[in-house]
Amino acid sequence: MSVEREFIMIKPDGVQRQLVGEVISRIERMGLKIVALKILQVTREQVERHYAIHQGKEFYEGLIKYITSGPVVVMVVEGWKAVKLSRKLVGATNPVEAAPGSIRGDFALDIQRNIIHAADSAENAEMEYSIYFEEEELVSYTRFDEVLLYG
Ligand code: PPS
Repeated sequence: MSVEREFIMIKPDGVQRQLVGEVISRIERMGLKIVALKILQVTREQVERHYAIHQGKEFYEGLIKYITSGPVVVMVVEGWKAVKLSRKLVGATNPVEAAPGSIRGDFALDIQRNIIHAADSAENAEMEYSIYFEEEELVSYTRFDEVLLYG
């Protein structure tokens, strides 16, 4: 079985619009296990590392300014195919293309203010969560319903 770690961030618009509970609830209901979670005001340096791949793109400066504009919630989730399943839950980057029922499809209008970020691979997830968490902050435990989820 392929148990992966995924990095998820609820962006400033998700926090301000009081969607933290809604988003966490959807993650939990899917069966993904939260192993690290916190709210924080990120620094420009952290966000520059996180979004380094987009440096030079026309939206880059706006993106950095936006992510540092208010608190975000960061988390690490674990589960079977956690990356693919999380990204399905999150929906397409552009809310115009995000399916109804996905987080962006249900709550977002704008490609920048799109509520939530989920890393696009297990490798990037590790790179990204390492920016916001120390390894010791990740908790190891067995969730009560794992026997039902995984058999
Ligand atoms: S791309 O087009 O391949 O670079 O896009 P993608 O890898 O899907 O992610 C782009 C992230 O930057 C945010 N962002 C924008 N993307 C495209 N166009 C505009 N104008 C823009 N403004 C901000 C977008 O929300 C993606 O953020 P994350 O957190 O990765 O989902």
